[in-house]
Amino acid sequence: MDVEAPKELLEPLQLPRRILTGPGPSNCSQRVLQALRQQVLGHMHPEVFQLMDEIKAGLRYAFQTANKFTLAISASGHAGMEASIGNVLERGENILIVKAGLWGERAADIAGRLGIHVDFLETEPGVAFTPDTLEEAIKKHRPKAVFVVHSESSTGLKQPLEGIGNVVHKYGGLLIVDTVASLGAEPFYADAWGIDVVYTGSQKVLGAPAGITPISFSPEAVKKIQSRRSPVPVYYWDMNLLGKYWNCFEGQGPRIYHHTVSATLVYGLREALAQLVEEGLAASWTRHASVTEKFHRGLLRRGYEFFVKEPSHRLRTVSAIMLPRDVEASRVIRYAMDRYNVEISGGLGPSAGKVIRIGLMGVNATPGHVDLVLRALDEAVKFAKCQLKSNL
Ligand code: GLV
Repeated sequence: MDVEAPKELLEPLQLPRRILTGPGPSNCSQRVLQALRQQVLGHMHPEVFQLMDEIKAGLRYAFQTANKFTLAISASGHAGMEASIGNVLERGENILIVKAGLWGERAADIAGRLGIHVDFLETEPGVAFTPDTLEEAIKKHRPKAVFVVHSESSTGLKQPLEGIGNVVHKYGGLLIVDTVASLGAEPFYADAWGIDVVYTGSQKVLGAPAGITPISFSPEAVKKIQSRRSPVPVYYWDMNLLGKYWNCFEGQGPRIYHHTVSATLVYGLREALAQLVEEGLAASWTRHASVTEKFHRGLLRRGYEFFVKEPSHRLRTVSAIMLPRDVEASRVIRYAMDRYNVEISGGLGPSAGKVIRIGLMGVNATPGHVDLVLRALDEAVKFAKCQLKSNL
């Protein structure tokens, strides 16, 4: 053999126990874990098709949409961004991207690579835009589509969405919304709010593993895809083909083989959605709201400030918290992980170096997790301050 067998693979698999209270992924429930350990089935087996149909129904409920074209893509949340932009827009067309944090920047990177012209509506990081400022920008740029992030996990900002769809449609565009860090925790109504394309993450509030990304297209968005002059540039995201695998077209006949979906992830997402249905969407929204309220009250009592100044625009999922100037985030993060197995994350994009981020989502959105995270944070900050003093 030119290449020796790697010795490390002869060691047993060892994984730490972690409480995933960063911006995602969050922990899976026991029920989802049980599902993930079931034997693999074939991607064209009728039992898997049945589960895919159940996922579609669960996603329509979670997105609050009647869209027939609702499915899940075999990749993580970034795929939702790439698939939504790459399907409804063609090379040479233009998109208006609201840049309020890292995810708007990422969408622009993706659109640029696809040969789509990008204009920005830029807000101060952590500050929401208003329908009026959006209308001004649309009048100026006349985009074919507008891209908005509902849950900017890089800053903890929740962008209010009501009324935005009407503004976009008034000028003939399509509205694409990223709900990766909010769906299932924040009230969201795809149809009532006039959203044409929406995707979310499986690994945050829903509590399935990453790698299977829910996405939904309105009839208008499907019309745009079907009237493209050029093929969707990436085979893997081509909704004309994927829709035929997920049985999204009226009277389409038998499903076609597009790719080999991970049956394991189908089981996981199916069970995560079953849990959402059992709890009820409204109950899940309320649980995330009350847990976040308790968490934020605890932080305010301790004198912390948030990156997002407007309380009603703070996410119920990921909070971006300013640390005292003399406290190094990396020390806090390491201490919480080493002593408590609790994940705290640093800032990202515009909040990098300025905040720590804590996410209480899915099974981790409980009062007990609030107490645990606050205890870990108190101790970690005390430790970081002591370290600083001893270094002086
Ligand atoms: C990932 O979604 C993050 O916000 O870090």
